[in-house]
Amino acid sequence: MDIKTVGVVGAGQMGNGIAHVFALAGYEVILNDIDRATLDNALKLIDANLKRQVSRDRITEETAKAAMDRISTTMTLSDLGKTDLVIEAATEREAVKSAIFEELVPHLGPDTILTSNTSSISITRLASRTDRPEKFMGFHFMNPVPVMQLVELIRGIATDEKTYNAMKTVVDRLGKTSATAEDFPAFIVNRILMPMINEAVYTLYEGVGSVQSIDQAMKLGTNHPMGPLELADFIGLDTCLAIMNVLHDGLADTKYRPCPLLTKYVEAGWLGRKTDRGFYDYR
Ligand code: CAA
Repeated sequence: MDIKTVGVVGAGQMGNGIAHVFALAGYEVILNDIDRATLDNALKLIDANLKRQVSRDRITEETAKAAMDRISTTMTLSDLGKTDLVIEAATEREAVKSAIFEELVPHLGPDTILTSNTSSISITRLASRTDRPEKFMGFHFMNPVPVMQLVELIRGIATDEKTYNAMKTVVDRLGKTSATAEDFPAFIVNRILMPMINEAVYTLYEGVGSVQSIDQAMKLGTNHPMGPLELADFIGLDTCLAIMNVLHDGLADTKYRPCPLLTKYVEAGWLGRKTDRGFYDYR
């Protein structure tokens, strides 16, 4: 299966990072979003991140320019009809993802592989909303995409071996490493990471430590590059809450109950870095 052109749905923090790494690996990329400003901002961010890689001697200026030239943008989902692979990287809400698949699928060629960058939602269930469950997979990148080495590969119940092998090859060509997870709520990374972040929020909620001391303790005490609250702000508190809800509902165990303080911050619109306010104030 020769994948040359890739469609990315959603130009937010994951979508722009995914477009970046595919363009750098030589794929033609069509980046889609419903919002023009989000697309323009994504192009600016990709350009800045490529320039950062040039300034650190990771890539040459020519390579960065060639990567930028391989990315086009569109607000029309049907423009992704001629791609060989589509990666859905929209917001972590099942209804939104399902609506995208419903609109997109009639435009796709029969051989196009369809994937979702979902961080927690059932791949089998998402696949069932499409016409190609055997060509559907979970393809989960980590943030920041250009830096993080891992991609989780998740097969739904119907995913065929040809699709799985094709996506493994894509991960190799991106210069990244895959870990295969079974289709359980939140897969591997977020099954482990999110309860840790949620527990850090409980630690704050119960007054065990301040924001600074919780993050300091985990950074210096366990050698994590970021403290859990700083990391939650970086991921987005709405995404963290959505994943905790998937774990809580999907595994029906109170140990996954989202901390009320996390819920309150999301209700306040304090979503972390993207809104300039979360556990830290970025204004
Ligand atoms: N694009 C390109 N390069 C980038 C980048 C970006 N967006 N962000 C950082 N970099 C590069 C820098 O240029 C630098 O490169 P060199 O090694 O070549 O010098 C390198 O990354 C390190 O960056 P900095 O020196 O600026 O900063 P740092 O050392 O503090 O590292 C970090 C920043 C990589 C984000 C680090 O703090 C880190 O690893 N944090 C944890 C990230 C993490 O856990 N991510 C997973 C979140 S979970 C997830 O994503 C799954 C989910 O579904 C929610």
